[in-house]
Amino acid sequence: MVATGEVRARAKELRALIERHNYLYYVQDQPVIRDHEYDQLFRELAAIESEFPELRTADSPTQRVGAAPLDTFEAVRHEIPMLSLNNAFEEADVEGFDRRVRDALGLADVEYAVEPKFDGLAISLRYKEGVFVQGATRGDGTVGENVTANLRTVRTIPLRLAAREVPDLVEVRGEVLMFKEDFLRMNRQQQEHGEKEFINPRNAAAGALRQLDPSVTAKRPLRFIAYAIGVAKANDLPRDLHSRQMDYLARFAIPVAPGRAVVRGLRGLMDYYREIGAKRAALPYDIDGVVYKVNDLACQKQLGFVSRAPRFAVAHKYPAEEAVTRVLDITVQVGRTGALTPVARLEPVFVGGVTLTNATLHNEDEVRRKDVRIGDRVVVRRAGDVIPEVARVLLEQRPGDAREFVMPARCPVCGGSVERAEGEAVSRCTAGLTCPAQRKQAILHFASRRAMDVEGLGEKLVDQLVDKNWIRTPADLYQLSAEQLAGLDRMGAKSANNVMAALEKSTHTTLARFAHALGIRNVGESTARDLATHFGDINALMNANEEDMLRVPDVGPVVARSILEFFAVPSNREVVSTLAGYIRFEPEAQRHAGLAGKSFVLTGTLPNLSREEASMRIQALGGKVASSVSKKTDYVVAGMDPGSKYAKAKELGLAILDEDRFLHLLDNLSTQ
Ligand code: IVH
Repeated sequence: MVATGEVRARAKELRALIERHNYLYYVQDQPVIRDHEYDQLFRELAAIESEFPELRTADSPTQRVGAAPLDTFEAVRHEIPMLSLNNAFEEADVEGFDRRVRDALGLADVEYAVEPKFDGLAISLRYKEGVFVQGATRGDGTVGENVTANLRTVRTIPLRLAAREVPDLVEVRGEVLMFKEDFLRMNRQQQEHGEKEFINPRNAAAGALRQLDPSVTAKRPLRFIAYAIGVAKANDLPRDLHSRQMDYLARFAIPVAPGRAVVRGLRGLMDYYREIGAKRAALPYDIDGVVYKVNDLACQKQLGFVSRAPRFAVAHKYPAEEAVTRVLDITVQVGRTGALTPVARLEPVFVGGVTLTNATLHNEDEVRRKDVRIGDRVVVRRAGDVIPEVARVLLEQRPGDAREFVMPARCPVCGGSVERAEGEAVSRCTAGLTCPAQRKQAILHFASRRAMDVEGLGEKLVDQLVDKNWIRTPADLYQLSAEQLAGLDRMGAKSANNVMAALEKSTHTTLARFAHALGIRNVGESTARDLATHFGDINALMNANEEDMLRVPDVGPVVARSILEFFAVPSNREVVSTLAGYIRFEPEAQRHAGLAGKSFVLTGTLPNLSREEASMRIQALGGKVASSVSKKTDYVVAGMDPGSKYAKAKELGLAILDEDRFLHLLDNLSTQ
C-alpha cells in the first residue's frame, strides 16, 4: 500500500514534534509533555513507518537507534583539520597570549569570545541540506573515525536542522560529553547490575562513543555541545564574528556552549576565568578550563596557526583538584541490593572546595589494580569533580606495616554470608532484607522523592527506626504513630506530625511510583512505568508469569527474572499486599490533568515562551487552547501587543494572565 498524503504529512509532523520535544527535554531541560505522551508520539511514528517503510527517512527519530553493529569504524578525513589548543596555566601565560595577539594585529585592545572548556571528546557533525549525514571523531586531527550511527543516538544532536531555510552544507564541531548527574546515575545502575563502573564522565563518554554496536551507545546518556564551525556552504552564515556564528548555530536548535560570553582585553579574560572557576563545581558537566578565542574571524585568519594549534585561541586550565593524604582504613559499605563497596577512610584533606574523608574504591578488583593498602599515602582527586577517588598510591612512601584489604566473608552489618558471582565484579551480602543495612536502604529508596515521596523521612530517622526494630519493612512505616516519632533524636512534635502527614499523603500515588518504590532489582523508574501501563493493577503485576512480563515493552529476560524472583519470595508478597491495602491508587493522567476542561486563549507576544511552547504546556496539563475568546474561555494569556482578543477578554471580565502569572499557574499544577 502506498501512503496517502495525509499519512505522509502526519509522519513529517511527528518527526518534527518528537525532535522538538527532544530539544526541550535534553537541551532546554524544560520538557512540556510527560514521558508517556512522548512515547505515544514515538510509537505512532514507528507504526506508520512499519506500515509504510518508504516513509522511514534517515532523519527520523526512530532511526536514532537500531542500526546494525559494525566490525570496525571507517576512516574519515577532515577537510579542515581538527586542531588542538595551546594551554595557559598562569596569568602570565594569558598575558603573553594577549600581548602576542595585540602585537600581531596592531591593536590596543582585543575582543575575545570566551567559553568553558568542556571535558569530553571532540567530534564533527556534517549537515547536508539540513540533514545530519556524517559524524566523526577528531582522531589524530586529520583522520578520524566515522561514528555516525553512534552519534545518531545522542538526543541533543538534531537529526535535522530546525529551520525552514537551511545551509547547503555545514560542519558543526563540538564536544561529546556526559553530565555529572547522568554519569552518577549510570554508574549506580552499572553497580546494581554487577557491571563495571566507569572512572569519570569523560572515560564513560569515550567508551560509549567507541562502541561498535550503536544500541549500546544508545543506552549511555551522551550529550553534545558545539563550539566551532568547520566547512560551510551557507549564504546566510555570518562571516564576521565567532560569537555570531555560534548564535547562528543556536538558531537551528544546536546546543551551543552555555556560559559563552564576549569580553575585552586581559582584564576581561581573567574576570571570566575567575567567574567560571567559581561556578565550576556547580556546573552540570566537567570542565577543565576556559577557552579564549579572538572574536573577529578576519583577525583569526590573520593570526593563523603554529604547528598544530591556532595563534588566535588558547585554553586556560584550572589546576587539577588533587591532594595527598593517608588511608586510615578500608571499610565496606552495604548498598540496597547488598553490594559491598570498599571505601577508603582518609585523613581529612581539602580538595576542590570540600573536605574529603572518604573515597570510593569501587570494588575488590579496583583495590588490587590500584594496589591501595591501609596506611598508604595516596593522591586523592575529585574524579571529574564528581566522586572523590584515590588516583594513585605513593608507593615509595609505603610504610612497612601497610596492610592489604581483604573482602570480608561475612557482611559487616548483619553477619550474613557474602558471595561474588562468577564473572561479576561485585560481592554481595546474601541476607536480603533481613540485613539492616539493606533494609535501611530499601526503606530510604521506598520513601525517596521519585518513589513514594515521603518528605522528611531521611537517613537519620530511618537509622533510628530500623535500629529500634520499629520498622522491618516499608509496610511498617504506616503503623507508626506521631508519639513514637516525637520521642526520637532530632524530632519534636512538629516534625513528627509533618512526617505523619507526608506518610498519609504518600498513600495517594500511582502504580508506577509504587512499583518503582518496591526496589526490585533492575526495575528503575521507566521500567516501573512500563509495568504499570501494561498491567494496570498491582495484583496483575504480582501474579504475572514470565510470558506476561516479556510482553511489556523494554522488559527482557533479565528484568523479567528479577521481577519474578522478587514476587516469588512470600515475605515480599506479604509486604506488597499489606501496602496495597493502605494505598489509594490514582491513574497517572489524573494526577497531571490539572487543567482538564480549562480553555485558554493566547494573544500577543510572550517575553520568553513561544506560542507553540505555551500551547504545548497547556495541553500537557490537560487544558485546551482555543483561537477566539468567548464566555467559555477560562484564561487569556496576554503578551506584548495583544490584539482584539485582549479587549474582548476585558469586556467579558475574564481572567487575564501575563507570562509570569501563567507560568506560576502551570508550576503550581505540575508539582501537585
Ligand atoms: S576550540 C581551533 N572550544 O579542547 C581550536 N575547543 O585542547 C578548536 N574543547 O580538541 C577547538 N571545549 O576537544 C574549543 N569551547 C571549546 C572547547 C574546546 C573543549 C576541546 C576540544 C579540542 C581540545 C583542544
